[in-house]
This record gives sequence, C-alpha cells and structure tokens, in this order.
Amino acid sequence: MESKISLVRDEFSAELDRAENSADLEAIRVKYLGKKGPVTELMKGMKDLSNEEKKSFGQKVNELKAELTDKLAEKTAFLKEQEILKEIEATPDFDISMPANLGEGSYHPVTLVQRQCEQIFKSMGFAVEDYAEIVSDYECFEALNIPKHHPARDMQDTYYLDNGQLLKSHTSAAQNAIYKKYKDALINDGVPIKAIFPGRCFRNEATDACHENTFFQMEGVMVDKDISISNLIYFMKTMLSEVFRKDLKVRLRPGFFPFVEPGFELDISCLICGGDGCPSCKHSGWLELCPCGMIHPEVLKAGGIDPEEYTGFAFGLGLTRLVMMKYGIKDIRDLNSGSLKTLTQFTDDE
Ligand code: DAH
Repeated sequence: MESKISLVRDEFSAELDRAENSADLEAIRVKYLGKKGPVTELMKGMKDLSNEEKKSFGQKVNELKAELTDKLAEKTAFLKEQEILKEIEATPDFDISMPANLGEGSYHPVTLVQRQCEQIFKSMGFAVEDYAEIVSDYECFEALNIPKHHPARDMQDTYYLDNGQLLKSHTSAAQNAIYKKYKDALINDGVPIKAIFPGRCFRNEATDACHENTFFQMEGVMVDKDISISNLIYFMKTMLSEVFRKDLKVRLRPGFFPFVEPGFELDISCLICGGDGCPSCKHSGWLELCPCGMIHPEVLKAGGIDPEEYTGFAFGLGLTRLVMMKYGIKDIRDLNSGSLKTLTQFTDDE
C-alpha cells in the first residue's frame, strides 16, 4: 500500500511537469483526483485493513490528496502567469486604436500659467514644492486651525477614502509639511522659509460654469523674523503684474480663514475695463483673485515654529481662476474637458 502511494505521487509529478496548458491540468485533475482516480481507489482499498492500519493509512492517503491538490493549484497559477506574460509581450506598447495624425500636442493652459508663476517666484527666491493629492485630516484641517466640527469645513467638503484620508480640498494642506521641512534651517541658520506649492484640489461641488470638483491652486508661504503685510502685498503685486504683463492695482479687503490672522481677499483692478466698472467685475472695477493673510500663530506652532519669534504670510492663489482670466475662458469645465480643439489653442506668449 505504501509503495502504491509513492507510485501515484511520482506518476502525478511527472505528468504535472509535462502539462502545458489548462486543458492538460484539468485532465490530470480528473485522472488523479476524480471519482475513478487512484486516490479514490486507495481510499476504497482501505476497507480490508485492520482498524489500526486504517487510521495510519487513511492519514497518508489524505496527505497525498492534499499534496496533489496543492501542486495542481501551484502549477495552475504558474501557467496563468506565463499566459499573461506572453499576452503582454505580444501587445504593442502603443495604443493601436489612436488616430495616426494627432499633430504636435501642446501644454494645458493650467500648465502654462503654473510654469510661468513658478518662474516668477523662483526668481524671487521661492522654492517650488510638489505635494500629495491624498492627505490626512490633520494636514488638510486640524493643522490649519480648523478643528473637527468647525463651520469652515462646510465650504470644503471633499472626497473621503475608507482609511480616513481625503483628497485635498486646498493647497493649504501642504503648509504643515513645508514648515516642518524647512523649520530647522530657519531656526538654526536664519534661512527664511519661502516656498510655493501648486497643486490639484478637489471639492464635492455641483459643477457649473464657475465651479468644478477638480481645480488648481497655488499656495505660497514666507516665514521669517519681522514679516509683515507689506511683504505680502509686494510679492503678490509683483507676481500678478508679471503674469498679466502690466502694472496692476491691487487692494486688500478683510476676509476670514481660520489659518490666517488677519485674513484678506486680494483684488486686482479689472482687466477688462481697467477699473472703470463693467459687467465682468460687476461694475465694481475690481476682481477677486487671491485670498491671503498673516499665518495664524496656532498654524506656525503646529509646524514647530515659535510665533513669538517668527511671523509669516500665506496666500492661496486660484490658479484655475487666474488661467480663466488670463485667457478669457468663460466656462471652467472646458479645462477638464479633454477637448483638444479647446485646449491646444494656448501658448506661452499669449
Ligand atoms: N485655502 C483657502 C481656500 O481654498 C485659500 C486661502 C486663504 C489660502 C487664505 C491661504 C490664505 O494661504 O492665507 O479656500
């Protein structure tokens, strides 16, 4: 009996080695583990044994059955993987359904304006930082002085993941990490923190011509000793004048954001009427472009910076808004449309 078991095992292994596809494997399964197979035969043969022998032999047959089943599963997985690899190898690494003549391609208008802003801020000594799109509640809210249940969260409803993380609703979500990254250089070596971080943001919005669930902002911060609102106005004015290639008038109005104190809305003189008043600026002569303010002491503290010693400003430029103004795009949804006819019209030097 014992020798029969090892014979079955050897024959099975030899056949399994030769199997090349799923049909071979199925044939082996039926042959060895099916109702008329040797394993069933061995089981049946036990009836003539003594009780003692039945016990030890039964165990061995069960072990054999488990072993054959496992080996079969192993080989099945192996062959499947081989099949997938073969399929990948046979697939060309370009999309054969694409039309052949797409022309040269072009940068998305948001990319154009983002790069331009980056250039301008780089020339003023700002670092350009990249940041994740999936962030924690702490980064997006708590560290920005927006505790749970704060009404300011209502305006920033976003998309939550099962693990509690979320798609960032504003680029301010990167502030805490930036402070932590640069604080040692600030405190030990007196290097001011100057960074911008452009990025994609998400909100649970009903979309219309001015609202999208996915849009771009560009956050900026500067922290040092004796930073004041004048510094903020200077940098914003310089940047916007460069982007629009004309000297713009700016004004600040009070605005509330939990992570700045005082907080402002920064307006620029209307580009269409030059400040005289027209339908685009609701006859006020001003366009709202960039909320900003002096960084709240609690936010600096959360970033490991002593607010008694250092101050700073932060701004959250609506990059998508800026793009729309610069190129005269009336419907925000065009930007995410994927329509090449729309999106290939823009160039750097417009
Ligand atoms: N994160 C704000 C928002 O998306 C915008 C903002 C306001 C950013 C004031 C700032 C700021 O840095 O100082 O609504």
